[in-house]
Amino acid sequence: MLLMIPGPVQVHERIIKAMCRQMIGHRSAEFGEILRFCSEVMKEVFGTKNDVFFISGSGTAGIEASIASFSKSAKFVTLENGKFGERLGEIAERYAQVERLSFEWGKPIELEKLKEALENGANVVAFVHNETSTGMLNPAEEIAKIAKKHGALTIMDAITSAGGDYVKMDEWGIDVAIVGSQKCLGAPPGIAIVAVNEKAWDFYNAKCPYYLDLKAYKKKFSELQTPYTPAIPLFFALEEALKMIREEGLEKRIARHRRLSKAVREWAIGAGLRLFPEPNGKAEYSNTVTAVRIPNGITEKELRDALRREYGLLISGGQDRVKGKIFRIGTMGNVGKFEVIATLSAIEDVLLRKKLISSAIEKAMQVLGD
Ligand SMILES: Cc1ncc(COP(=O)(O)O)c(C=O)c1O
Repeated sequence: MLLMIPGPVQVHERIIKAMCRQMIGHRSAEFGEILRFCSEVMKEVFGTKNDVFFISGSGTAGIEASIASFSKSAKFVTLENGKFGERLGEIAERYAQVERLSFEWGKPIELEKLKEALENGANVVAFVHNETSTGMLNPAEEIAKIAKKHGALTIMDAITSAGGDYVKMDEWGIDVAIVGSQKCLGAPPGIAIVAVNEKAWDFYNAKCPYYLDLKAYKKKFSELQTPYTPAIPLFFALEEALKMIREEGLEKRIARHRRLSKAVREWAIGAGLRLFPEPNGKAEYSNTVTAVRIPNGITEKELRDALRREYGLLISGGQDRVKGKIFRIGTMGNVGKFEVIATLSAIEDVLLRKKLISSAIEKAMQVLGD
């Protein structure tokens, strides 16, 4: 099966092989060296000089750790224009007072509303950088600038941006950022990585869940350890995935992600399909996942079933309120021209047979180049 969903991504052979070895002690110098290397590369990926912590768990563990650990005297404002924005609101409600700003899915966040919430006393802003459910990139720098002006803390879900698109925590003024191993980093699922600056500790809540207490991760990281037994094979894999990022170079990797997603967009438009998000204003199309409206004449299930059955290809459908209305193609991690052309050709085949689109593979080819 070719996985072209927005995570978990297709894992490169090198990374799979790195996992197939005997366990090591997690209090050993050998594990410490893996943690040191992973931290060094992740600082580059997040664009930060701050501390980076590793939690064995999916991306949500990193989000909950960030929200819960930094919830003392917090009045959150969450920016919700998709499923993962809504999830931030749901998590924050468990730990603090929250104003949940809700916007139409696939439409930009209204920054005026954020300003109002901050003027009314919100002191922590939580938002999603790359909203995977709608294929839209939210204006992180702009949001952080507004938050900073009001002295508020910013917590950014960078789960499907970091490692595939620009994340410049320190330059933009983001205080806490989170990524999951199974997206643009190209590793298997199971490690959440959280970058934290000094300001965040002003909000430290010692009553946060024991396993997700970031202070424990900070304390143990000073000994190059994690507080509890880490998912060791996943750290072998992450180390290899991050070596591959170093070899490719972050700039080139981001350029590749941008090229692949642009190819998908150009193909969709050329074929006569409609992209889902309407990023007028400050928001932009995602550079790691593309959401396309399902044309009349086929259902999401028919399309995805045909791709799975005939081509061994997995793409995503819509979630929650856009279920059945869109399909989504992830172009994250270590995939390239071959996987994108194979994916688009397969989708084209299914849709052309039903006379729902015209062929536009050459549009994608033009973007992908030699
Ligand atoms: C933007 C975003 N946030 C959070 C999550 C949740 O991550 P996980 O499933 O790794 O917990 C996802 C997963 O797709 C995501 O895309």
